[in-house]
Amino acid sequence: MVSSEAAPFAKTGGLADVLGSLPPALCALGVDCAVVLPRYASIDVTLAECVYNGMRVYLGGGYYEVDIFRRDVRGVAFFFVEHAGLYGRDGIYGDRFGEFGDNPVRYAVLCGAALGVARYLFPTDIFHCHDWQGGLVPLYLKNLGAGDPALHNVRSVFTIHNLGYQGLVARDRLWDLGVEDRFYRSDLIELNGMASLLKAGIVFADALTTVSPRYAAEIQTPEYGYGLDGLLRARSAVLTGLLNGCDYGEWNPEMDPYLAANFSAGDLTGKQKCKQALLDEFGLGDRVHKPLLGIVSRLAHQKGFDLLDGVLDEMLGYRDLTLVVLGSGDRDVENLFWAFAARYPRNLIFWHGFNHPLAHRIEAGSDLFLMPSRYEPCGLNQIYSLRYGALPVVRATGGLDDTVDAETGFKFWRFDSWDLAECLRHALAVYAEPARFRAMQQAAMRKDFSWAKSAQRYLDLYQLVLNRE
Ligand code: ADP
Ligand code: GLC
Repeated sequence: MVSSEAAPFAKTGGLADVLGSLPPALCALGVDCAVVLPRYASIDVTLAECVYNGMRVYLGGGYYEVDIFRRDVRGVAFFFVEHAGLYGRDGIYGDRFGEFGDNPVRYAVLCGAALGVARYLFPTDIFHCHDWQGGLVPLYLKNLGAGDPALHNVRSVFTIHNLGYQGLVARDRLWDLGVEDRFYRSDLIELNGMASLLKAGIVFADALTTVSPRYAAEIQTPEYGYGLDGLLRARSAVLTGLLNGCDYGEWNPEMDPYLAANFSAGDLTGKQKCKQALLDEFGLGDRVHKPLLGIVSRLAHQKGFDLLDGVLDEMLGYRDLTLVVLGSGDRDVENLFWAFAARYPRNLIFWHGFNHPLAHRIEAGSDLFLMPSRYEPCGLNQIYSLRYGALPVVRATGGLDDTVDAETGFKFWRFDSWDLAECLRHALAVYAEPARFRAMQQAAMRKDFSWAKSAQRYLDLYQLVLNRE
């Protein structure tokens, strides 16, 4: 697998969770599985072994010399590509000044190095590449020619975790990525006057997947297709939606080490203690009998929190619920939460940043969990919320629609503040009836989204792709 993130090594969102849990689930099914990712500055390689010193990755007119480190975790071989100039900085995709301008080169080198790993270190039948950062592997593979016997039969699967990030590059930079100008065509990698590395993956992979059935259908429509819906319709015969799984080793309230108390569907007393502890942490301990709504998210446009602007005065004022928000991202959304936190200091906590233990404590302490996404390829947080008895309040889109139902959560359809407000009112009305609310929590906690089933589907797909002529 080729990816820009994998838990526990590098994470900004759900992509990392998938790369941390699908590979071990595949190993459990007997697959030899490796993950290739950059050695970011934050990744400690003291426990890893240097398995290739000075591997040359040729791109355009020159080459990059990288070292490859290997560390095995839960049966999976992780290969870290080290290049101080490209990856040895603070931040994964950017720093406080914004996105790194050379991201396309950084990930082209990752893709080139992944071919090297397959050539010299880990003989490979299939490359499974994720998002635009892995998009050049299928293109490189299809265009190696017969000159590379180690790779010319290797197949590729490309997974779209998010169509909103397209890996756009100016045409005159393609040469630096080892991509010839002849690929710059509207039926190949050109997209709206730029080259798209995401499109390269979609065009050249042998099979395509995305992370929920509903999103697989949505991206074939103009509304969700980002200009790629026509291409995706044309490739629909090789496109499937495979729902992400949940790593219940990590997200399980019965043994979660981050919690003040553990709990299960059969005994929810610990959940009340978690709620009390979470409120105490922020000096709001007297509010334990009020409904608590949690948010843990990248605060990106995709996530739809701008809808709250028309809703929070009613919810925090008149209805007096408690809202705990953990996240960072777009300035506008951050400012919205800062402004409401200033207006409602007694019942809105905004914890700005990334905090893994707090994410667990919010899932455990919340009664309700909010994801009003514009679009959501799969979404993992609502799956975690279900297991933690924090009933999801979601917009019915993508994986949110596929994983939440009327027995386990609350959905609204139109992307509109009014509809969100109505949905929250309904959720609060159910909260006010403890027996009914508890029955929903128990139904939610008993849902099973473990990886085993989804991993088997990936394995079936790999076999299909390998057996195809
Ligand atoms: P996306 O991948 O679009 O960000 P997902 O719901 O699939 O959305 O996955 C988000 C993952 O990132 C979850 O594991 C969630 O707990 C984690 N996460 C997001 N923001 C934060 C944060 N601020 N602190 C800690 N974990 C976070
Ligand atoms: C993306 C999507 C999210 C999905 C995750 C893992 O970041 O935004 O919906 O759960 O990838 O597939």
